[in-house]
Amino acid sequence: MKSDGKKHLLVVDDEPVILQILKAVFEEEPWKLTLVGTGTDAKRIIENEPVHLLLTDKNLPDINGMELLKLAKQKEPLTEVIILTGYGSLETALAAIELDAFDYVLKPLNNVFDIRKKVRQAFAKQDVSLENRRLIAELREKNGALEAALEETRSLQAELIQSEKLAGIGTLAAGIAHEISSPLFGIMGLAEAIADEQDLSLAQSYAREIVEYCRTVRDIVVELSSYSRAATNEYLTTVELSRVIQDAIRLVERSSDTAGVHYETNIEADLHLHARTNEIQQVFVNLVKNATEAVREAEPGTEPGANAPAKSPGGGVVRVSAGRAGNHVWITVSDNGPGIEPDKQKLIFDPFYTTKAPGKGTGLGLNIVYRIVTKYRGAIHVESTLGKGATFELRFPIER
Ligand SMILES: Nc1ncnc2c1ncn2[C@@H]1O[C@H](COP(=O)(O)OP(=O)(O)OP(=O)(O)O)[C@@H](O)[C@H]1O
Ligand SMILES: [Mg+2]
Repeated sequence: MKSDGKKHLLVVDDEPVILQILKAVFEEEPWKLTLVGTGTDAKRIIENEPVHLLLTDKNLPDINGMELLKLAKQKEPLTEVIILTGYGSLETALAAIELDAFDYVLKPLNNVFDIRKKVRQAFAKQDVSLENRRLIAELREKNGALEAALEETRSLQAELIQSEKLAGIGTLAAGIAHEISSPLFGIMGLAEAIADEQDLSLAQSYAREIVEYCRTVRDIVVELSSYSRAATNEYLTTVELSRVIQDAIRLVERSSDTAGVHYETNIEADLHLHARTNEIQQVFVNLVKNATEAVREAEPGTEPGANAPAKSPGGGVVRVSAGRAGNHVWITVSDNGPGIEPDKQKLIFDPFYTTKAPGKGTGLGLNIVYRIVTKYRGAIHVESTLGKGATFELRFPIER
């Protein structure tokens, strides 16, 4: 049933006089008017064309007005029905209302204006119902579209999670390659040194260092296969900071091009962390390696800034300092390299962020550093002024 177009008013009464009166009442209205004298005719019309309003006598000889009401409502629930009934059938009229008739009109028809008013009201009510129905349909449609969009978002989210997992595996694999590559560099350097070494006792000490690095690699592999990296305590020891920092510097010196780079340390005695040695060493190898690469890149001619270590005649200076303050241990790794632009400072801890030439850096060093530091409830941040070097500061809580 459409609310646009002409409304169709079907009038049913077996008394020709009544039909005559009603014809006169509704003739001038802008509705399509059909007047029939039998229930059978009315039924045929109801079945074959849209009827917006049925105005029917209750007592028809063939098909009862109440039957027509039910028929019309069955065909279209929004069809309005007004029942014409005699004084004596008031009860039936009330029953019609119960069957969802809009109203009833008592015969004889004393006040034709009253009938017209009721028909108009019925049409007005119907318009509201039709508009409601249209709105509900629209809402349903929109709801359906929203549900479809929600479903699509869900499946996109699942895909995203999946691809993030895959990316995570990639990061992990690259991270492991990165971790293993540092001790491998050390082993390579030592093996080359042994090849050229005439002094047997020196060669033996190099060999012992090689064994140490091999242990580190083995530990990394063991960790990988145990899958309980963060949870297990079995490798936690007391890590002596000055030793692990010296080792890290030596490792970098041996594995990278450090010509002209001067290393300084200023580390308070008896500074310890409760951690895994190879992880803490990993932190300082990465920071010292980055600082070394930065000062090497800066050569020649970068003027050191006020806070940066003074340049040695050869050029770059990397300084590692550490101490205790309150309930934490702090360590700084500073260099007098080119520094880091302010807007890049928040990116450098992201995995794969690198400014180094392809093949020179993976961009994972600082990400590994960050993960290890935070794993031990530590914090790391960088301070840098462009052209004046960079300082990475680490803090770890002192274990009670
Ligand atoms: N001391 C520093 N001075 C200037 N820039 C630095 C310093 N340390 C890190 N950076 C910047 O941060 C980036 C990321 O460092 P990160 O150690 O994560 O990766 P990378 O050194 O580029 O590669 P990889 O560590 O795998 O060799 C570097 O490419 C560099 O641009
Ligand atoms: Mg690095």
